Amino acid sequence: MASQPIIEIKALEKTFQTKNGAVHALKDINLQIEQGDIFGIIGMSGAGKSTLVRCMNLLERPTAGQVLFDGKDIARLGGKDLRQVRRSMGMIFQQFNLLMQRDAESNICFPLEIAGVDKQTAKARAKELLELVGLSDRAHAYPSQLSGGQKQRIAIARALAPNPKVLLCDEATSALDPTTTASILSLLKDINRRLGITIIIITHEMSVIEQICNKVAIIDQSHIAEVGSVEDIFFHPKTAAAQKLVYPDGKKSEPFSAQDSSPCYRIVFDGNSSFEPVIAGMVLEFKMPVNIIYADTKNIDGKAFGQIVIQVPEQQALRENMLRYLTRRGVTVEEVTGYVG
Ligand SMILES: Nc1ncnc2c1ncn2[C@@H]1O[C@H](COP(=O)(O)OP(=O)(O)OP(=O)(O)O)[C@@H](O)[C@H]1O
Ligand SMILES: [Mg+2]
Repeated sequence: MASQPIIEIKALEKTFQTKNGAVHALKDINLQIEQGDIFGIIGMSGAGKSTLVRCMNLLERPTAGQVLFDGKDIARLGGKDLRQVRRSMGMIFQQFNLLMQRDAESNICFPLEIAGVDKQTAKARAKELLELVGLSDRAHAYPSQLSGGQKQRIAIARALAPNPKVLLCDEATSALDPTTTASILSLLKDINRRLGITIIIITHEMSVIEQICNKVAIIDQSHIAEVGSVEDIFFHPKTAAAQKLVYPDGKKSEPFSAQDSSPCYRIVFDGNSSFEPVIAGMVLEFKMPVNIIYADTKNIDGKAFGQIVIQVPEQQALRENMLRYLTRRGVTVEEVTGYVG
C-alpha cells in the first residue's frame, strides 16, 4: 500500500477581495506531496505560488478546499494541534527575514524560545544546526555582517530548529548569485537526504527545479497546468506552460532560427546515450543533412540529459523514416512545429 502523502491539497481555492474586485489567486488546486519529496512549484510572477505555500501552513486561510497535513485537515485544527502542525513546517524566504538585533545563534534560538524550550537546550540545538549549515565559526555574527548566502544558511538553521517535517522555501535563492544558489540548493538536498525532511521549493527558475527537485508542479494563472516527475516533464512537456519552461534556453515564445518551413523535432537523450553518433549515423544512412538548430546538456536531479532541436527534410516518407531510425535508437522524439518561425 502506498504511504499517505505528508501534504495533500484538495480542490483548494483562494480569492482575495480587493477594492478593485475579487482576485482569484488559486483555482482548483490538487496536489499530493509525499514524505521525502523535494517538490518544486514553478510559475511566473503573480501565478499564485506564494499564496499556495501560505495556504499550506495556514498563513492564508483557503476560501474553499482542504489542506491535509499527515491526513488531518489543518483548517479544522485549533490551539495546540494547529501550533504543532505549524511547528512541523519550517519556512525560508527570499529576503531571509532574520532579526537584525540578534546574532546568528540567537536567531536560531528564537523559535525555540517561543516554544518554551530552556536556554541551554536551545543553545545546544543552535550549535548543532550551525554545524549542519557550515557556519559554526559565525555564531556571534550579526546579520549585517553576513553575506546573502550565509544569511540564508542561518535562516535554514532557524527553520530547522523546531525539528520540522517539512521545509517550505519561497524563492529562497532568488536573491543569490548562481554559485551561492548552487551551494544553498546542495545544502537543502543534503538536509533532505540526511534528515529525511520533505522540501517544497517555490521558484520561477527551471534551473532550480532541475538541480534538486524530484517532482514539479507548474502553476499558471492560478491553476496547476501540469504535475509530475521532473524527468517526465522534461521528456514530455504536454502543456504550453511546461513547454515554455523546458524548451531550449528558456527562449519561451521566441521562434527558433529555422530557415524554412521544414518541420523541427526536439530529441531528448538520457545520460547513457550521446547524440553525435545517433545524428551522424542517421545522416550517413539517409545521405541527407539535417540542420541542428539547438543543442545542450543538462543535469536533472543528478542525472545527465541532452536535448537537441533538428530540422529535417520536408518530404514525408523520408522524414518518417528518419524519425523511425531515431526512435529505434531509444531516444525520445517530439515535433515542435509550434516553435518554428
Ligand atoms: N493579500 C492579498 N490581497 C490581494 N491580492 C493578493 C494578495 N496576495 C496575493 N494577491 C494576488 O494574488 C495573485 C497571486 O499572488 P502570489 O503572491 O501568490 O504570486 P506569486 O506566484 O508568488 O508571484 P511572485 O513570483 O511575483 O512572488 C496576484 O494577482 C496577487 O496580486
Ligand atoms: Mg511569490
